[in-house]
Amino acid sequence: MSLSIALTKGRLEKNTVALLEQCGYGIESLKDKGRALVFQDTKKDVRYFLVKSNDCITYVVHGVADLGIVGKDTILENPQDYYEMLDLECGKCKFIVASLPENDLFHKVGHIKIGTKYPSVAKDYFLKRNMDVEIIKIDGSVELAPILGLCDGIVDIMETGTTLKENGLVVLDTVHEISARVIVNKAAYKLKREEIMNVLQDLQRMVNQNVKKDR
Ligand code: PRP
Repeated sequence: MSLSIALTKGRLEKNTVALLEQCGYGIESLKDKGRALVFQDTKKDVRYFLVKSNDCITYVVHGVADLGIVGKDTILENPQDYYEMLDLECGKCKFIVASLPENDLFHKVGHIKIGTKYPSVAKDYFLKRNMDVEIIKIDGSVELAPILGLCDGIVDIMETGTTLKENGLVVLDTVHEISARVIVNKAAYKLKREEIMNVLQDLQRMVNQNVKKDR
């Protein structure tokens, strides 16, 4: 049976395509993709879509994609009805809480405002700490918000730390480690179990190899 795999555009794309290539899959068209968004594997009965992270989950939940490769950040913000099957150990970064050094929100008295692209993750984090904060949803360049006084602190993704540093913000806490994950549609996992297990095993083998190499 043929498989459809939703891949996340952008940050994770390069790592994911490299991993599929390592597995020996026929993904030449994904490497030289132009503006195309759907790609047929030249060696296997597999079709790939390139979509935005939240859409990756939507395609998997609705069964249009049998599998998806998406960041743990998106999974944490958007938990839905799918299986999270494999940590690809790439695309590593973390969710952090940050602020200007002179405005440490953990020592602030009174109303606290948090700017974030991930309102659900931020809300959960502060709830667990019994902190009543106001969450302000921001769509991008989150580091700007505390500088302009929109909020006291942010919950955001940090990869290299360069963006925080260049904007004079400091990390106050780590919320969660993030990496690329494979998610699977629940019905497809029953109906196409063999095909799905083959892909998962191929990926797992390469992940193990890469982790060993990095040690
Ligand atoms: C992410 C994140 C930070 C930055 C962190 O934004 O929101 O701004 O990357 O990366 P660094 O630690 O390596 O500097 P992204 O590039 O996805 O763009 P956006 O701000 O427009 O969402």
